[in-house]
Amino acid sequence: MTAIHDLLKRLWQGYSQMNPQAESIYRFLTERGEKVVNDHIALRTFDDPRVGIEVLSAGFLAGGYRAGDEYSFTEKKLAARHYEPPDVSLPKVFISELKLADFSENLRSLVGRLLDQVPEQTWTRSDLAVIGRPWSLSHDEYLALAEESEYAAWMAAFGFQANHFTVLVNALATFDGLESFNACLKQAGYQLNASGGEIKGSPEVCLEQSSTLADRVSVDFSDSVQTIPGCYYEFARRYPLPDGSLFGGFVARSADKIFESTNRR
Ligand code: NI
Repeated sequence: MTAIHDLLKRLWQGYSQMNPQAESIYRFLTERGEKVVNDHIALRTFDDPRVGIEVLSAGFLAGGYRAGDEYSFTEKKLAARHYEPPDVSLPKVFISELKLADFSENLRSLVGRLLDQVPEQTWTRSDLAVIGRPWSLSHDEYLALAEESEYAAWMAAFGFQANHFTVLVNALATFDGLESFNACLKQAGYQLNASGGEIKGSPEVCLEQSSTLADRVSVDFSDSVQTIPGCYYEFARRYPLPDGSLFGGFVARSADKIFESTNRR
């Protein structure tokens, strides 16, 4: 197994362990006889030069991934870039980063204190994407971050690991679209993120997406153990471009609402 296959495998292991609902949906689909194809893996970070997209993407670029399009999320103060895999059997990688300069002095110094706890050599690890949280923080610090940015709070609590995996609905044989897929999941008892409607996007923008609401997971803060939203599972249906090839990018307006799947409710 090459380094990149190992990295992707570890991303799934960490993600599915922390997010039993993903494992359970995955099993639900394979028991129907489906072969689950992963469209993309999403990772989060801060735009501090120590850990920004450039740094977090290094392990994927070394594994043959190529930089794709860039995206901007004004309201959530995020920038993002997607990475194309070296072969079509591997998922795309979508990395977003929080634009710290757009936040208060308080948030910036809090995030700075987290990053300052980490030895410099950690940032050059080729498996940085799966190391988890390399700093400690209190539950109050988590809440202070959440007040300004749910994304910042999630990142502070979980660190480096997959935020979500994404089932490519096109590749499923027993569903004719995202609507019937969603209906089936709900009937099986899974809760979907309804912010902005269950289905984000449309055939016109060549991409439809939906997602579960994040599982609540137990997190060790420096002063207490708390239950907070963890990861979610995403579902995407891609449509062909006028030239007949399947749209391979992302739609910022849709992703904007999907980010809310990890909000505290
Ligand atoms: Ni996604």
